Amino acid sequence: MKITVSLIKADVGSLAGHHVVHEKQKELARKILQEAKETGLIIDYYVFNAGDDLELLMTHTKGVNNSDIHGLAWKVFKEVTDKVSKPLKLYAAGQDLLVEAFSGNLRGMGPGVAEMEFEERPSEPIVVFAADKTEPGAWNLPLFKIFADPFNTAGLVIDPRMHDGFDFVVMDVIENKEVKLRCPSEMYDLLALIGTPGRYVISRVYRHSDGEIAAVASTTRLSLIAGRYVGKDDPVLIVRAQHGFPAVGEILEAFAFPHLVAGWMRGSHHGPLMPVSLRNAKCTRFDGPPRVVALGFQVHEGYLEGPADLFDDPAFDWTRMRAMEIADYIRRHGPFMPHRLGPEEMEYTTLPAVLEKLKNRFVEAK
Ligand code: 13P
Ligand code: 13P
Ligand code: MG
Ligand code: MG
Repeated sequence: MKITVSLIKADVGSLAGHHVVHEKQKELARKILQEAKETGLIIDYYVFNAGDDLELLMTHTKGVNNSDIHGLAWKVFKEVTDKVSKPLKLYAAGQDLLVEAFSGNLRGMGPGVAEMEFEERPSEPIVVFAADKTEPGAWNLPLFKIFADPFNTAGLVIDPRMHDGFDFVVMDVIENKEVKLRCPSEMYDLLALIGTPGRYVISRVYRHSDGEIAAVASTTRLSLIAGRYVGKDDPVLIVRAQHGFPAVGEILEAFAFPHLVAGWMRGSHHGPLMPVSLRNAKCTRFDGPPRVVALGFQVHEGYLEGPADLFDDPAFDWTRMRAMEIADYIRRHGPFMPHRLGPEEMEYTTLPAVLEKLKNRFVEAK
């Protein structure tokens, strides 16, 4: 039996600014998904949050891009907006719902979607990631490390089932095109693209030897859909682990380095990606710093055993301390790049208005 894992998220309003999802929002989401489980539409679910983003993890047998599953997620986001966010006047109620009515597929409508379908192995560990105050390209560096860097992932060298490497699908989110690149043979081409994470985003990873799906990420860029500032596209990611895929520890190892990502404060600043437990999945300092949670599950006949809250561990304390040191350092730049994003990447800006106001005062440089 093929199982589909769907991780679908949206920011539909939050408590105290863009800080955290309200408990009542998660309660209503659970109630709706529990009903869907009882009617048999989904096999299992887990509701959680990363900062102000409401995350719906669901399992079912309907395949990816299924309109019933996408419709269910849309219904959750709509009802949570109408019955909780709006009455409580939560901040930015319905923020990521860019259209009024659902039209069969969530792509292009605002919510972020990561889905994969597979035949369950005798043991099927998966790790799901969700981040706040960043963008889908934030996964580029850790996905490269997990599936292509032998200094991160020992299995690339010593596990015969991984030794043929992995194929990366990279999406150009501006042109809406994608290209598949093989690693290690095309590693330098891959790096040439994904080093520009605002444009080239790893969307899927496959094991080269048999084409098995290994990882899938959300690739929504809300601002490109809406053509205006609508918040950053806080991304999600699903990774399969062990037995021919990277070990859970190899997957987590890629997050021991708090790399700089775009999306902090007003979606317009760089900051370090800090791995945190679910308890600490809430953004504070300068609306951040950008945070990521990792939840481990064992999938069995589509049921989700877990989660293991994988960053809830002193082994990541040092990464968190380092992230705060980097946060402190980069914050001192105030409104200067590279803390502030470049003008083409900023989610909103006063620059056109400033240029317009100063138009007549600009004179030929002497
Ligand atoms: P086990 O031998 O405990 O299954 O561990 C294998 C592994 O991948 C550890 O990183
Ligand atoms: P979100 O994209 O998480 O809603 O954050 C928006 C923001 O402007 C935070 O400073
Ligand atoms: Mg928000
Ligand atoms: Mg968010």
